[in-house]
Amino acid sequence: MGGGGHLSSKQAILVIDDEPIMQEILADFLGEEGYEVDIASSGEEGVEIARTKPYDCAIVDLMMPGIDGIQTTQALKELDATLPVIMITAFASVESAVEAMKRGAHEYITKPFKNDEVLLVVQNAIKQRELEIEVRSLRRALRDKYRFENIVGKNRKMQEVYALIAQAAPSRSTILIQGESGTGKELVAKAIHANSPRTDKAFVTVNSGAMPADLLESTLFGHVKGAFTGAVASKKGLFEVAHGGTIFLDEIGTVAPEVQAKLLRVLQEREFMRVGGVETIKADVRIIAATNVNLRQLVAEKLFRDDLYYRLNVITVNLPPLRERPDDIPLLAHHFIDKYTRENERNDITLSQEALDVLRSFHWPGNVRELENAIERAVVLAPPDGLIRAELVQEYIDSGSFDHSQMPSPPIGSVSLKEMVWEFQKNLIIRALDQADWVQKDAAALLNVKPTTLNEMIKRYGIRDAQREQV
Ligand SMILES: Nc1ncnc2c1ncn2[C@@H]1O[C@H](COP(=O)(O)OP(=O)(O)OP(=O)(O)O)[C@@H](O)[C@H]1O
Ligand SMILES: [Mg+2]
Repeated sequence: MGGGGHLSSKQAILVIDDEPIMQEILADFLGEEGYEVDIASSGEEGVEIARTKPYDCAIVDLMMPGIDGIQTTQALKELDATLPVIMITAFASVESAVEAMKRGAHEYITKPFKNDEVLLVVQNAIKQRELEIEVRSLRRALRDKYRFENIVGKNRKMQEVYALIAQAAPSRSTILIQGESGTGKELVAKAIHANSPRTDKAFVTVNSGAMPADLLESTLFGHVKGAFTGAVASKKGLFEVAHGGTIFLDEIGTVAPEVQAKLLRVLQEREFMRVGGVETIKADVRIIAATNVNLRQLVAEKLFRDDLYYRLNVITVNLPPLRERPDDIPLLAHHFIDKYTRENERNDITLSQEALDVLRSFHWPGNVRELENAIERAVVLAPPDGLIRAELVQEYIDSGSFDHSQMPSPPIGSVSLKEMVWEFQKNLIIRALDQADWVQKDAAALLNVKPTTLNEMIKRYGIRDAQREQV
C-alpha cells in the first residue's frame, strides 16, 4: 500500500483518546497491520500533532475532557478537509455520533468493537479518500491545461495539436485533419471554428463519403431550377449556407473525381457556380477537410488529385490513435464519467482502479469514440453502490459491441507492420474458431495448422470463448 499524501511508505493514523487502555489496543493492532500510529490523549493535543504532520486517517473518541470529539473533528477538518475522521463512541451516545457524522466525521464505531471492524472502516476511509483526491486532481487537470474546448488529453502529441489549433484557428487557411476513426476529427474541426473570428457564423458539416457524385455536387454548390430532373426550384448549396463561416468536408478521400475538380476551383478562385447555373458566386468560406485514410497514398494510387491534395494540405493536424497515448485514458474515462453521470442524473459513480487498469491495457481500435461507448454503458449499468468494477468494462471489450467492420483499415504509417499482422492473425483465428464452433481441432484443420500450434496461438493472442461472434 502506498502512503497517501506523505513520503513515508507507511500510512499514518492519529489516535485521539483519553483512555490509556484504548490507546494501547488501537496502537497495538493497527501497528501490527502495518500502519504508523501516533497517540494523543486529548483533542487539543491531537490537533497540535496534526498541525505538524499529515495523516491518512484519524480515530477520535467522542467523550473526552476538554474539547470533545466533535470539536476535535472540526478542528482537524479545518487543517485538512480531506482527512477521514472515524469517531469512537460508547453505545449510549449514538445520537451524538450521528451529530458527529453531520459535522464531518467519516464513520463511527461503537464500543466495544472488534478489531476487524475498525480495520475495515479505516481501510475503506483511506481508500475513498485516495479516490477523491485522484478525481479532484484529474478534474483540476481537465479544467486547466489538459483540454482545448471539448478536446481532452494531456499526451504530448495532443498538446502539440492544441498549440497548432490555437495558432491556425484565427487565420482563414485551409486545414486538413488526419486521424483514424473516432480520434476526434470533427471535435477538432469545431474547436478551430470556435476559436476563429467566424465563430458567430455557420459551421456546416458535409459528409462527403455518404453521397454519390451528382448529389454531393448539388449539395455543395446548389443548383438552378431545371438543372436536372427533379430540380423544380433553384436551391442554395452548402457553400452559400456557410457564407462567412466554416465548411467541414468530412471523409474528403471518398469524393469522386468530378467533384474534386470543382472543389479545386473553389480553393483556387474562391468562387463557384450552381449546378446548371451561369453566374459565379463568391465563396467566403473557411475550409476544413478530414480524412481517415492516408490521402498521400490515394494520390500515389491516382485516386485523389494531387493539385487538390496540395491545396488542402496547407496546415495538417494529425490526431494520434488512442493506443499511442494510453496516458490519456484515465483523463478521458473520467471526462466521460462526468458527462454521462450528468446525463443520467447519477452522481454516485466511481471507477475502480482495476476497471481503469482494464481500460488502460486495451488497444481501442475504435479510439476515443469506442472508449466513450464503453463508459456510457458502464455508467448506465453501474450497480447500486455506483462502483464501476473491472468486470463491467471487460464485458464491453469482450462482447466486441463496437462495430469494427465499419472501420477502414488504419492508414499506412500509423501502425507498425507487426501490430497489423498481429491483429489480422488474431481475427482470422477467431473467425476460424467461430466457423468450427470453437472446436480447436476443426479450426486448426481450416487454418491448415497443427492443433498444438493453434492452441499455442490462442494462448499467445489471449483469445477466449468470450470473443465468440466478435468478428
Ligand atoms: N480528445 C477527445 N476528448 C474528448 N472527447 C473526444 C476526444 N476525441 C474524440 N472524442 C469524442 O469521441 C467521439 C468521436 O469523435 P469524432 O466524431 O470527432 O471522431 P472522428 O475522428 O470524426 O471519427 P470518424 O472518422 O469516425 O468520423 C465524439 O463523441 C467525441 O466527442
Ligand atoms: Mg467524423
